[in-house]
Amino acid sequence: MIMRVVSYNNPKSPISEAYRSIRTNIEFSNFDEEVKTIVVTSSQQNEGKSTVTANLAVSFATLEDKKVLIMDGDLRNPTVHRMFGISNITGVTDILTGNKDFLECVHTSKVEGLHILTCGKIPPNPSEMLGSKKMKKFVEELKNHYDYIFIDAPPVGIITDAGIIASYVDGTVLVVGSKEADIEAVKISKERLDKVNANILGAVLNKYEAEGSSNAYYNYYYGHDEDQDKKKGKHSKKKSA
Ligand SMILES: Nc1ncnc2c1ncn2[C@@H]1O[C@H](COP(=O)(O)OP(=O)(O)OP(=O)(O)O)[C@@H](O)[C@H]1O
Ligand SMILES: [Mg+2]
Repeated sequence: MIMRVVSYNNPKSPISEAYRSIRTNIEFSNFDEEVKTIVVTSSQQNEGKSTVTANLAVSFATLEDKKVLIMDGDLRNPTVHRMFGISNITGVTDILTGNKDFLECVHTSKVEGLHILTCGKIPPNPSEMLGSKKMKKFVEELKNHYDYIFIDAPPVGIITDAGIIASYVDGTVLVVGSKEADIEAVKISKERLDKVNANILGAVLNKYEAEGSSNAYYNYYYGHDEDQDKKKGKHSKKKSA
């Protein structure tokens, strides 16, 4: 089970160590603002968003006494349930349509403090659902129960969904798949995120093959967006409005 969530199965591996380093960067990226809700996106498909979301969530959950929720916000191509080998019969969409309540849908996991909320039925109108007042209220309410909420999202360079989520969560992580991404697509994605006033915490370079590395593929680099720091004031104002 959970072959893809390395930090879950093998906390001593270099990959888990890489995730711990990304975790520390996120923890220290915002001193003045609380960062509890974090969306993970990328410019294109297949760059590793779901993998990074799951591993980061596990990494944060191993911090003492921290409660973490991983939520599938990719309502078009949900995979969180597959990553953790759990059922997707009910999930976020059932909560938003009022068919189920949160406790009927949330899954516990073998990592203490880590809960999982899968997508549920794929809706005909994902963007509308993700942008609804109900969704925003739901995400806000989750903050009362969890220290961190990680939301897996579709590619921001292709559809609007990730931008919609990024506009109301506390932070955004941009995954850059070194095999898939090109610089123009990444630039456009960053512009899109800036336009919705997303608080970009940094970028994770995924699938990077370091020269001479025996661990080819499993390399991560966390980059911090300094331009973003200069704009932080603007972001906080919007958040409290
Ligand atoms: N660091 C990595 N090393 C090797 N393989 C990886 C790595 N990260 C992701 N993958 C693989 O790449 C593929 C895509 O990963 P994943 O599903 O996480 O991407 P995604 O960005 O969420 O895709 P989608 O756009 O379809 O939602 C999967 O087969 C996954 O196992
Ligand atoms: Mg995915």
